Amino acid sequence: MATVDVERKDGLAWVTVNRPEALNALSRAVIEELTGAFTRLRDDPEVGVVLMTGAGEKAFIAGADIAELAKESSHSARDNSLRGQAMCRSIEECGKPVIAVVNGYALGGGFEVALACHLRVASESARFGLPEVGLGIIPGYGGTQRLPRLVGKAIAIEMIVTGRQVNAQEAQRIGLVNRVVPPAELRGAAEALAREIMKNGPLAVRAALTSALAGLDETLRSGTDKEADAFGRIYETKDLHEGLAAFLEKRKPKFTGE
Ligand code: COA
Repeated sequence: MATVDVERKDGLAWVTVNRPEALNALSRAVIEELTGAFTRLRDDPEVGVVLMTGAGEKAFIAGADIAELAKESSHSARDNSLRGQAMCRSIEECGKPVIAVVNGYALGGGFEVALACHLRVASESARFGLPEVGLGIIPGYGGTQRLPRLVGKAIAIEMIVTGRQVNAQEAQRIGLVNRVVPPAELRGAAEALAREIMKNGPLAVRAALTSALAGLDETLRSGTDKEADAFGRIYETKDLHEGLAAFLEKRKPKFTGE
């Protein structure tokens, strides 16, 4: 792949947008490659957690590619938005926890990618924002929908209509990020969080993640009904019996993902 690298190691996959000369801006090629990478990771039995980042010191992803945006028409812009939204869905529906490892600017479409990830670990130098209205456009890769769901209406709408950027500390205060660490500790902190997840039964992690995400789109009643279905289905797995037996036998479980 030309602009997206996928590196697998010990059950983790690092996905890196590799276009540092343009601050990892989301060109059409990047969007297609990221969508393809996450679609494949969904069915990769070797991967338990995905870490998503951008190459270089300066940016996670500095947004959609503005040079490409300048050439769009109304019709093609709508298609571009739909492609960006499908990319974000491929991340959100990857079936494995995806951690955004935010090493610098996460702006516009880059912030929308971080919002589609399930967890966010940020370096102290990270900055988040939706600067689109300053360019005369609007966020088009799900930002107007996911940001209010994450931080609430007032803060989200302020960020959307002012375009104001927030630094890592403010992002943590408003519930946008899970951890803030010095730049040199970023990758290690993200991997430590991933390993904490991977100690658990992978089928249970997947089912719990899917249940939590599904519920956000539904009423409490239909979400809890689906949770009960998933709770029943997990009893069909070997991991469930191993996890319960290990507790009763006072030993660590050995999950196999079956
Ligand atoms: N699309 C295309 N190219 C981009 C880009 C984007 N979203 N963001 C940065 N780049 C390119 C710049 O054009 C520049 O290319 P050049 O070296 O060929 O001139 C290169 O990346 C480095 O960016 P530069 O602006 O020189 O870095 P900076 O440190 O001065 O500023 C930012 C960093 C992030 C503040 C600035 O690049 C920026 O505002 N980018 C656009 C952010 C944005 O509006 N995103 C939403 C798009 S919808």
